[in-house]
Amino acid sequence: LVLLALRTGLFTVAEADVLLRTTLDAHHAGTLSGRYLLRVSVSGPDDVPAAWTYAAESPVAPSVWDVWWVGVDPAEHRRGVGTELLDALEAELRAADARVVVIETSDGPMLAAARAFYPRCGYHERGRIPDFYGPGEAKIIFSKTLADQAGRAAFERTRSA
Ligand SMILES: CC(C)(COP(=O)(O)OP(=O)(O)OC[C@H]1O[C@@H](n2cnc3c(N)ncnc32)[C@H](O)[C@@H]1OP(=O)(O)O)[C@@H](O)C(=O)NCCC(=O)NCCS
Repeated sequence: LVLLALRTGLFTVAEADVLLRTTLDAHHAGTLSGRYLLRVSVSGPDDVPAAWTYAAESPVAPSVWDVWWVGVDPAEHRRGVGTELLDALEAELRAADARVVVIETSDGPMLAAARAFYPRCGYHERGRIPDFYGPGEAKIIFSKTLADQAGRAAFERTRSA
């Protein structure tokens, strides 16, 4: 999974170790605290990982979940793999009573695909923090409010009517 993330070209090996490998190691060691979801999409007859995502509930805002990573193998880009993965994650988050999903990215050129992808998946840009990742590179905050239980019940009634 770390190699898949490295193939996106977004990280150096050292960055991937700090940002991703430590989380995966902690998951396998059973030492990750709080509620989190780690999901992998596989492809082909050998179930090779094609994409993965990691989200965790905010420690300060219950029912608010941060998506810390979503990445698709470059060989699989623009085939709907990312959309399918995010949809599956959101279905699990709804089942976990999540209310809001937050995803942060940068306004740098390497993240152009992500900036196009999140709005397409129903995320709204909520704000920017200039110079967050470095001089001239802003953080962009996206979020999506998941339908509440009452809204879902009304939706189900409409569908079955
Ligand atoms: C962002 C990312 C996850 C999208 O995954 P994907 O499987 O290629 O996305 P999908 O095929 O589901 O694309 C859904 C829609 O998003 C938009 N989109 C995705 N990639 C795009 C790109 N490179 N340029 C423009 N629009 C894009 C399109 O509207 C696309 O629909 P379309 O192909 O019918 O036009 C993938 O590009 C990726 O892994 N990037 C590297 C890692 C990364 O940036 N992660 C986010 C860190 S914050």
